[in-house]
Amino acid sequence: MRNVRITRWYLHLLLFAFPLWLGAINISFADKVSLDSSNWGLEEGEACISCHKKSSAGLTHQWQSSAHASAGVNCLDCHYADQVDKDAIEHEGSIIATIVSPKDCGHCHTREYKETEGSVHSKALSLIKNRIPALADNLTGQEMVTAGCAKCHGSKVEVRGDGSLSPDSWPNTGIGRINPDGSRGSCSACHGRHSFSKAQARDPSACAWCHSGPESPDKGVFDSSKHGMLFAANREKMNLHSDEWVLGKDYSAAPTCVTCHMGATPGVAASHDVGMRDAWNLNQPISEKQSLIIFEDGDRRELPESQPIPRRGNEISKLDGSMGKIKAVASSKRRRQIMSKVCLECHSKGFANGFMKQFDNVVELYNEKFGKPAQAIMLALYDMNLLTPAPFDDPLEFTYWRLWHDEGTRARHGAAMMSPNFTWWEGMHLVGQNFYGEFLPQVRELAGAEKADKLINEHVLSLDEHSWLKNPSKPNPILGYGIGKPSHD
Ligand code: HEC
Ligand code: HEC
Ligand code: HEC
Ligand code: HEC
Ligand code: HEC
Ligand code: HEC
Ligand code: HEC
Ligand code: HEC
Repeated sequence: MRNVRITRWYLHLLLFAFPLWLGAINISFADKVSLDSSNWGLEEGEACISCHKKSSAGLTHQWQSSAHASAGVNCLDCHYADQVDKDAIEHEGSIIATIVSPKDCGHCHTREYKETEGSVHSKALSLIKNRIPALADNLTGQEMVTAGCAKCHGSKVEVRGDGSLSPDSWPNTGIGRINPDGSRGSCSACHGRHSFSKAQARDPSACAWCHSGPESPDKGVFDSSKHGMLFAANREKMNLHSDEWVLGKDYSAAPTCVTCHMGATPGVAASHDVGMRDAWNLNQPISEKQSLIIFEDGDRRELPESQPIPRRGNEISKLDGSMGKIKAVASSKRRRQIMSKVCLECHSKGFANGFMKQFDNVVELYNEKFGKPAQAIMLALYDMNLLTPAPFDDPLEFTYWRLWHDEGTRARHGAAMMSPNFTWWEGMHLVGQNFYGEFLPQVRELAGAEKADKLINEHVLSLDEHSWLKNPSKPNPILGYGIGKPSHD
């Protein structure tokens, strides 16, 4: 523990050396870790162990080999509940709750709780509320909300009259779950129970449960990047079990998800606020750079930089509609600087900046060439009543969805995290095929030649990026590719 404190202080000092662009963001540093042993060691907790050793030996064994057991934190210290808690149950003579919420963990781990509560992770359920009806209810059914979306995003956990948890909403360790005590998320989303290990959470597999699939293909992207290659080959050199895990000091063989998005680098503190270092929103029909607004109570929200950036001290609405006073604003440029600081432990400035330029160029290419024209055409078709307001009742709506949500997102995430396969074959290659081969032909079919030509002229052919379409007879050196007669002349 002593060692931990010293290293933390070393980070504090470095932090103050860069107050301009780091101080505002690493607000967590003001908070003290509240690990005081008078907080735990409830005597009645011993009874849980002797019985559960028999009734659930695996679970109990995981706890026994955990840092919690070594420190004397027992079952009841976590599962303790007040009679008045909604989800309190009477169990073998004690009042307990099955769910140990982030707020419960926060009694001892205040800093991690606050960082998690403020992060985009804890907003993951509110993020999807409006999307659920179309995607889940129309296309499939409520069962899929419970067994699909909610597993990653979370759901509101419903408590039945007797304090037990409704199977419509639990088991669930979704990252934005609304707990019976009102807190959000689930710490065991990353820290598998009952080991609750930090070594396990540092491994990229901790993120794979959710960060796979078209919305967030990051595990696949990482595995097919050079960083993933190096991680796989050097796992034993990663020092995952180290108490502190500072890049360049405790390990250097490869960066992982945690290195770039959460971990400590000299001058950058570790944080459970995963989205803090991201400049773009890569999961929208059109990506925008975003500043991060930090409120006085620690809550956060993002604002696209196309909107005026409010100042410190201003009051603006939070995501839940209430008003909040701004403590600090981190522009997308500052967020990018922090991410780049991680790269600089292993790469030169020229290399890191050069890469960021290549990445930004892909996002802008996607935006300008495909994202904006496709969105403008869709909006016009809704305006002209050629599409009904209901999503997904016309083939074109699926095609558009695939364009930005599946293929376009894979391309952008691939470019962000260095996988040429996702950037091109799984990404932009399909975006191009879709746009020219499916999207535009379907627009023609739906709107008829005259209206479609007008829309396509205005939104597509007017752009330089698409000017090649205007000269179909212009010779192309690779003519023949695609029809089976490759020419290398
Ligand atoms: C006499 C044995 C015994 C004791 C003592 C005991 N448990 Fe249990 N507990 C069980 C058994 C058996 C189950 C499984 C019941 C089932 O499968 O529905 C269980 C279930 C649970 C559950 C899951 C409830 C759910 O909603 O599924 C939790 C949490 C739990 N115990 C925690 C504790 C804690 C904390 C203590 C100590 C305060 C404790 N237990 C004491 C035997 C015991
Ligand atoms: C560090 C806090 C912590 C400690 C210590 C702890 N638990 Fe848990 N336990 C949790 C969390 C978190 C969950 C997950 C509930 C949820 O979020 O859905 C859980 C879930 C459970 C469940 C129900 C889920 C399942 O997988 O069946 C049982 C049973 C349980 N704990 C028993 C125990 C027993 C017995 C002990 C002591 C040997 C213990 N717990 C110690 C935090 C803790
Ligand atoms: C395998 C886990 C997983 C499942 C299942 C899942 N999501 Fe997501 N979803 C994510 C992740 C991770 C992100 C965040 C991606 C990012 O920000 O880069 C996300 C992002 C989103 C977004 C934000 C923008 C976008 O569309 O990409 C919406 C809306 C959304 N999900 C809705 C849903 C709905 C509705 C369902 C169920 C019908 C669902 N998701 C199922 C993991 C999942
Ligand atoms: C997104 C995944 C994720 C979630 C969710 C998460 N953690 Fe962590 N946690 C990690 C990782 C990764 C580390 C190791 C970070 C490092 O060393 O750089 C960690 C480390 C920790 C540590 C050790 C800190 C130290 O300095 O030794 C504690 C305590 C902790 N987490 C508690 C929590 C609590 C409490 C919650 C819920 C409020 C939570 N975590 C939610 C990923 C997560
Ligand atoms: C009653 C106090 C208490 C509660 C409640 C509590 N913890 Fe801990 N936790 C501790 C102590 C003490 C340690 C050991 C600290 C150390 O060794 O540095 C610890 C260590 C950890 C670690 C680091 C483990 C490692 O690999 O070194 C993680 C992660 C963690 N806790 C997560 C959680 C989560 C998640 C919850 C809620 C489900 C939780 N804790 C609830 C007191 C608590
Ligand atoms: C239980 C599911 C789950 C797990 C586990 C999980 N995430 Fe997430 N993550 C999400 C969802 C859902 C979102 C989208 C939330 C939102 O935008 O409100 C998200 C968002 C993010 C973002 C921010 C994207 C942005 O918009 O800036 C990052 C970065 C991220 N996660 C990294 C990680 C890392 C690193 C891990 C593992 C240590 C991890 N996540 C584990 C579900 C998860
Ligand atoms: C070498 C550093 C690095 C590694 C390793 C890495 N990422 Fe990223 N990640 C980035 C960068 C850079 C971005 C783009 C940030 C931006 O928007 O400017 C990004 C973007 C993301 C996003 C989308 C955020 C957005 O802007 O919308 C998510 C989600 C994410 N990463 C999760 C993960 C997960 C999960 C892993 C591991 C499987 C991982 N990352 C590995 C650097 C990394
Ligand atoms: C722990 C050290 C480490 C960190 C941190 C790190 N990288 Fe790397 N990265 C490497 C190594 C080693 C290679 C492999 C170099 C080689 O042999 O080609 C690599 C390869 C790359 C490549 C592939 C180059 C190519 O085209 O061959 C890119 C791009 C890259 N890194 C960008 C980044 C960016 C951007 C960041 C920060 C967000 C980052 N890296 C963080 C160690 C690191």
